[in-house]
Amino acid sequence: MPGSRLKVAVTRRLPEPVETRLAELFDVELSDSDLPLDREALARMMSEADVLVPTLGDKVDASLLAGSGDRLKLIANYGAGVDHIDVETARRRGITVSNTPGVLTDDTADMTMALILGVSRRLKEGVTLMQSGDWQGWSPMALMGHRIGGKRLGILGMGRIGQALARRATAFGMSVHYHNRRRLRPETEEELGVRWWESLDQMLARVDVLSINAPHTPATFHLINSRRLKLMKPSAFIVNTSRGEVIDENALTRALRGGELAGAALDVFEHGASVNPRLRDLPNVLLLPHMGSATVEGRTEMGEKVILNIKTFADGHRPPDLVVPSML
Ligand code: DGY
Repeated sequence: MPGSRLKVAVTRRLPEPVETRLAELFDVELSDSDLPLDREALARMMSEADVLVPTLGDKVDASLLAGSGDRLKLIANYGAGVDHIDVETARRRGITVSNTPGVLTDDTADMTMALILGVSRRLKEGVTLMQSGDWQGWSPMALMGHRIGGKRLGILGMGRIGQALARRATAFGMSVHYHNRRRLRPETEEELGVRWWESLDQMLARVDVLSINAPHTPATFHLINSRRLKLMKPSAFIVNTSRGEVIDENALTRALRGGELAGAALDVFEHGASVNPRLRDLPNVLLLPHMGSATVEGRTEMGEKVILNIKTFADGHRPPDLVVPSML
């Protein structure tokens, strides 16, 4: 492959500078759609390209990989999460997978902080009241939320984004607790000022805000289920900017409707764009359309990472952001 002009197929519209650079470097097939491709179109791209650049929503599963022929050699995902790609099957078929970690960290942590503040300070209700035109002016009792300073934040998943969130939350005066399958090094815990809980259940019972920052893997699917939701304080809030599948969305909806939790702010959903309609109506539920990492800067840097991964691979080396199944 070194030296040859690779055929690179991109499944979605990307920022203009990224598309331009891709077109300069490779024999590129771009897409003019903002929506996931259907299976047939994806299968066609996979069989005709050396490199596929998919993104969230493009389900690159075992059967598509099996039918992709021999040409495809690299899946350079545009995004950090790879739960839409069957990485193990790709590996067995000799297809390398890379992603774009790191460049989304600060944007996602910022948005998580915005959601923590948004749900605890009732921003949705305030915005709704202003849009209705019914606001009668300031009153001491109106729309009182809860102060986050002095409260306990529990972070589920202490990778890059969890740690960036911990720094922000500490600056807002929260005390930060975390559960992660691997404990951080003592010096990192000390630097961040965070406390590890080996038992997720015990942490859940003590926090005022729970933030989900763990990826979706078989081990995290529905980690927050009905039983665990019942362990939480009725005054607690849940925020999710990671993957919807980590929470049992039906159980969460029941808990919120039953007043077993104070509110939720969700940027991601168990069934993608098919959001449970019973969540939408709740005043204490703030929903966003998966925009945690959506900044111009971040999207461009994601593209730069994709390009670097492809170029490095084309030069015969391991892409810097290689995904190996054991990481998942
Ligand atoms: C990712 O890259 O996986 C993010 O979820 C997109 O925001």
